[in-house]
Amino acid sequence: MATASIKAIGAYVPPTVITNDELSQRLDTSDEWIRTRTGIRQRHAAGPEETTATLSYAAARSALEEADLSPQAVDWILVCTDTAEMWSPATACFVQAMLGAERASAIDLTGGCAGFLQALTLAQGIVAQGKTVLLIGTEVLTKAVDWSDRSTAVLFGDGSGAFLLTPGEDGIIPRQAFSQSDGRQADILNKPYGGTRNPLTPELVAEGHHHTIHMEGRKVFRHAVHHMSDAARRVLQEAGMTSEQVAWVVPHQANQRILDAVAKELAIPPAKVFSHVAHYANTGSASVVLALADMLTQGLIRPQDQLLSVAFGSGFSWAAQLLEVRSPVPARFVNKD
Ligand code: UT7
Repeated sequence: MATASIKAIGAYVPPTVITNDELSQRLDTSDEWIRTRTGIRQRHAAGPEETTATLSYAAARSALEEADLSPQAVDWILVCTDTAEMWSPATACFVQAMLGAERASAIDLTGGCAGFLQALTLAQGIVAQGKTVLLIGTEVLTKAVDWSDRSTAVLFGDGSGAFLLTPGEDGIIPRQAFSQSDGRQADILNKPYGGTRNPLTPELVAEGHHHTIHMEGRKVFRHAVHHMSDAARRVLQEAGMTSEQVAWVVPHQANQRILDAVAKELAIPPAKVFSHVAHYANTGSASVVLALADMLTQGLIRPQDQLLSVAFGSGFSWAAQLLEVRSPVPARFVNKD
């Protein structure tokens, strides 16, 4: 069984930026409220011509170019998203066509903000068979929020990140992983309308029900801190590591207060918990890859570093992943602040 190695990372955020001050002109909110409750100062937002597939393509193409690999070499394209291009076919099929990755098999996975790390576990099984995988996490959440709901509209942003995974012993190696779900909590964070349970009707739309995010923020916060910390402890224990041996925590970028609380729970100095939530807000499935791409392009990651990635999101689902840096890999982050 071949070891999976992350060989290159591509990331893309749309060029358009929406600041908190701009939001407060269309919603009853303020820069001060958003900053102090979440740490977010701005978010990048897809323009009218940009979609989940175009963002995914931009990130995937960057990863392939950084690895100097032809799209023809790709065996599988997996797109993790909660904001698909359309109901059917999979967003990954559009990305395959745009890349010209003619040999590839393409499929989507939906797992909320923890989905990318859950999918990384699945991708390793494919790479173990000697295959090359593009694992992409993308969200266009600004087209999925209810712009009249200030409690959710201010939290999310758009972006895409791609791992190019091949068999190998160099690059960044995914090691111990843990993930779990609790579907009993599905009602706390979801997009309840538009599926087969609540198909959209003119009446539902007239009542203001669309394909938008519903969230009970306080409950999410509490569960997120508990499960991210617990998952992190589990993978550290399985690896026989202490938190002191972690060079960086690379968390899902939901809210600075959640990151601070997780750092406290794990007794890890906040300076070792990477955060750029101020710039990009919560980008769901893209969040962990954008963080890693940002760190690599800033030169923050060094050979032999042990990285601990943790995420939590709808489902609820949560995940932790240890990443061993044998050698820092090439990364490109398009439109990085
Ligand atoms: O990947 C997982 C995705 N989700 C998350 O990470 C979210 C986790 N939860 C959170 O980050 C926090 O719960 C929030 C940032 C969403 C909210 O912070 P909070 O401290 O839990 O505030 P709250 O929901 O308890 O609301 C406090 C007050 C309320 O007003 P009243 O009832 O006290 O008068 C809200 O109506 O803040 C009000 N409020 C706002 N005020 C200004 C809610 N949203 C806003 C807003 N601007 N944008």
